Amino acid sequence: MSKSINTQSVEPVRTVLIGCGEHATVVIHTSASLMPGIEVVAVCDLDAQRAASASRRFGSCPHFTDPAALLEKVDAEAAIIVAPPFVHAKLTRQCIEAGLHVFIEKPMFVTPDEVVAVEKAAAARPDLNVSVTFNKRYSPYVQEIKSIIGREDFGQPSYFFAKFAGGYRNGATDLLRVGAIHYFDLARYLFGPLARLSAISYEKQPGQAHIAVNVAFESGAVGNFFLSSLGLWSAKGAESMEIRGDRNFITLVNLRELTWQKPPLSVRGNASSHQSGVEIPAPAQYHEPNYSNISLLEYQSFHQNGYFPRLEAFVADIRAGTREGPGIDASRCALEAAMAVEQSINNNGAYVDL
Ligand SMILES: NC(=O)c1ccc[n+]([C@@H]2O[C@H](COP(=O)([O-])OP(=O)(O)OC[C@H]3O[C@@H](n4cnc5c(N)ncnc54)[C@H](O)[C@@H]3O)[C@@H](O)[C@H]2O)c1
Repeated sequence: MSKSINTQSVEPVRTVLIGCGEHATVVIHTSASLMPGIEVVAVCDLDAQRAASASRRFGSCPHFTDPAALLEKVDAEAAIIVAPPFVHAKLTRQCIEAGLHVFIEKPMFVTPDEVVAVEKAAAARPDLNVSVTFNKRYSPYVQEIKSIIGREDFGQPSYFFAKFAGGYRNGATDLLRVGAIHYFDLARYLFGPLARLSAISYEKQPGQAHIAVNVAFESGAVGNFFLSSLGLWSAKGAESMEIRGDRNFITLVNLRELTWQKPPLSVRGNASSHQSGVEIPAPAQYHEPNYSNISLLEYQSFHQNGYFPRLEAFVADIRAGTREGPGIDASRCALEAAMAVEQSINNNGAYVDL
């Protein structure tokens, strides 16, 4: 993914951290603490102990339990928000209105009313960058896929499959509008806009479900999503993708093990109508990280899962005045896909246009 500027040498972005829970501390604050382009100037969490603990990590900077008080008292350029999904839209608006660039964990919003409110606040401050993580786009493996599917020898990207089996979820909204939203965004990032979809569900109890989705893309490609809140989040293969071109395909398991089943070395007979019996197979290209090398930044899980490069891209966007990272539009499209799945399930699998 192109970076407009070198974030090692820019003036650090004076940043406040809002929400200092588990994901923030383990992943996002760790990334921020290792990034010269970010200077944390204040932190905030409703829980005073969490706020104090985050403050100790960042030079005992001022800490708050009320975001409004922080925004009133602290001179900053940007906010990193990592809070429960149902407060994200409100916090995003508050930060925009206080004149801060926003970097928010997904989802930016969970209802259409919240989309309208955030869009309105952002329209009044076009100088501000309002960004969402969608970190999976920035994983080195997804970047590799993006480059392979642009190659002539991959053929036209024609089939997309994603499995997101996210363990226990606190209801259907949590599975579709909070968790699976990553893959609605990845589908659009890799294959372009979704045109329509149809979904059916096996629901063991409210929110605990297997959901099977058929999708058609505007490009003419087709695909499936398998989304589940039944089963194990810790299991190998809880997340996977299969991306097919007209000529060969790529699989990615758990955002780590990437296999590209390359085009055959040669085909006897008519190449445009070849079958396996006449192919001379090519070796597959396989990438898997070296799990025993723990010192390099690039080998850390927060880097491999795309969080660190995503945050770097936010800093680069601010300093270069660009808007390369995903923001409000990407968030709205992903939410619309999640809501189309809900609508289709409620209509016995009828197709919904997007
Ligand atoms: N991109 C990813 O892969 C990924 C992974 C995990 C979590 N997340 C997202 O991260 C977010 C946080 O998840 P978590 O597991 O850390 O949750 P958590 O409950 O551990 O942390 C949330 C924190 O926000 C604080 N908080 C709540 N309302 C607040 C407010 N108005 N102002 C300031 N602080 C407030 C809470 O006190 C809590 O400490 C969620 O939105 C989730 O969707 C994203």
